[in-house]
Amino acid sequence: MRVLEIDHPLVAHKLTVLRDKTTHSSVFRQLADELVTLLAYEATRNVRVSPAEIETPVTAMTGTKLANPKPMVVPILRAGLGMLHGLTTLLPTAEVGFLGMVRNEETLEVTTYANRLPEDLTGRQCFVLDPMLATGHTLIASVNYLHERGARDITCVTLLSAPEGLKTLEAAIDSSVDLTVVTAAIDEKLNEKGYIVPGLGDAGDRLFG
Ligand code: PRP
Repeated sequence: MRVLEIDHPLVAHKLTVLRDKTTHSSVFRQLADELVTLLAYEATRNVRVSPAEIETPVTAMTGTKLANPKPMVVPILRAGLGMLHGLTTLLPTAEVGFLGMVRNEETLEVTTYANRLPEDLTGRQCFVLDPMLATGHTLIASVNYLHERGARDITCVTLLSAPEGLKTLEAAIDSSVDLTVVTAAIDEKLNEKGYIVPGLGDAGDRLFG
């Protein structure tokens, strides 16, 4: 598993405002959107492309276009929805599938309550969007879900990641999956309630109230 923590002053600035508990949800949504677009630039670094013959006004040339099948973007409901627009700004032709997952705040176990994804994801590059990688259980369930449907090239984009969750995710995922995590920051730790510290609180609540 590759982990890419984005080191960029704009990411650091936006993330700091996002973490601030006085930031209102309308600003939070806007910042999350901008942050994801910055992360998406790195997350799509290995997006598949193929040669494309075109003619400029001056001459014929071989350019580069996104390969088929187009990438699949999978926001994890509910909080991942706040990241969808930011990613599809850079990948407007991607297909979008949905997974709904919720973790029990007591046991931290994850249940899946919705899915809208193609049955066969063989050969598809997948981008999973979830702002928080805390214990890692939500992303483990999500990646396993995509893996069962044939996906082997999966990039998870998160705003914050806990070191414990990254470790758990790496240990749990089948070695046949080429897995990358792109994150704005790896925080210090998880607290006893499974919250990321220093974190930003509950991303779903801060996005959607
Ligand atoms: C939060 C968060 C992640 C998950 C991370 O979602 O948005 O999806 O918890 O936790 P984990 O790494 O310990 O599994 P939540 O279950 O609160 O649902 P929500 O998105 O509907 O708010």
